[in-house]
Amino acid sequence: MLPTKSLAFLALTLAVSTVEARPRHINDDEPDDTPLPIVIWHGLGDTFNGEGLKQVGELADAIHPGTFVYTVSLGGTDASADRSATFFGNVTAQLDEVCEALAAHPILSTAPAIDAVGFSQGGQFLRGYIERCNFPPVRSLATFGSQHNGIVDFAACGAYDWLCKGAMSLLRYNTFSTFVQSRLVPAQYFRDPKDYAAYLDGSNFLADINNEREVKNKTYAENLARLSNFVMYLFEDDTTVIPRETSWFQEVNGTEVIAIRDRPIYKEDWIGLKALDKKGGLRFRSITGDHMQIPESVLNETFANFFGPYYRKFEPETGVDDGRWGEL
Ligand SMILES: *[C@@H]1O[C@H](CO)[C@@H](O)[C@H](O)[C@H]1NC(C)=O
Ligand SMILES: *[C@@H]1O[C@H](CO)[C@@H](O)[C@H](O)[C@H]1NC(C)=O
Ligand SMILES: *[C@@H]1O[C@H](CO)[C@@H](O)[C@H](O)[C@H]1NC(C)=O
Ligand SMILES: *[C@@H]1O[C@H](CO)[C@@H](O)[C@H](O)[C@H]1NC(C)=O
Repeated sequence: MLPTKSLAFLALTLAVSTVEARPRHINDDEPDDTPLPIVIWHGLGDTFNGEGLKQVGELADAIHPGTFVYTVSLGGTDASADRSATFFGNVTAQLDEVCEALAAHPILSTAPAIDAVGFSQGGQFLRGYIERCNFPPVRSLATFGSQHNGIVDFAACGAYDWLCKGAMSLLRYNTFSTFVQSRLVPAQYFRDPKDYAAYLDGSNFLADINNEREVKNKTYAENLARLSNFVMYLFEDDTTVIPRETSWFQEVNGTEVIAIRDRPIYKEDWIGLKALDKKGGLRFRSITGDHMQIPESVLNETFANFFGPYYRKFEPETGVDDGRWGEL
């Protein structure tokens, strides 16, 4: 990163903090304690301006005062278009749009790095952002209940959510046709190990960013391995995401559950997870509760432990979690 860019970033974030009248300790001789900006990508059926997301941003700012929070929207300022884009659209094109928006953003693009929070499908999409674009580069990625190894079913729709129900009926119809793959968002991370050939052949998103096809893209692995922290939260009582183990990249094939470290995607390091693990940056976490039941304390800890100033240090992972949830 060029020094001029860091300075521009500092100036902009300080301007933001001044507006918010937050006390800051400015001393040219000390490392900059400005927290990195945070990018949030929300889940299926949510909107960028939802109350819950606002609270998440407020917590982040309470833990690291002066945090600039950017929430991804695929509908500009139109919340219903943004919600609709969580169900319908071509994820490749959606990611291209987000890559462009982040790279052109005056604050994000001049920061030395950003931190990122992905809720549910937003988690694998942010991972896609890192693998494919990563400008500005992500330092810490936290994903909550994300479908990193795909889904075989999604039980997400409210009783009167016709948009959701319409999407889900389409999902079950000819999932891997080009028609469905270019239009229905959840279909693009649908992955049934029992029907693996169809997935490899037709998946528009997941098979690509998981580098499961014969020709691997090295950039994907290099970019993901550049993370300092990849924190993956799994909801122990998740009844929405099937199988819930997908949040830890576990393979569930019938009754067989294969932990990430026993899978080729890790062992042959298709996407950089092994390299990241070697440096202590791969972090398995679980939450007691159903999908997206995130205690405030967990958000607080996530921000405190993995986000904040650029120059902070992180403890390498040494915990007992071994990516084997569900087998104990
Ligand atoms: C690999 O991914 C990068 C980043 O998206 C892209 O620029 C490049 O063209 C891809 N390489 C191949 C061989 O597809
Ligand atoms: C999805 O969008 C990408 C990028 O715009 C495009 O290249 C691709 O052909 C689209 N896929 C389908 C199946 O329409
Ligand atoms: C899942 O299990 C079935 C039957 O045991 C097997 O044929 C298939 O190859 C497995 N799928 C994967 C992706 O390993
Ligand atoms: C989370 O952090 C905020 C801001 O410091 C604090 O007000 C709140 O009590 C914390 N919540 C929990 C459950 O610790």
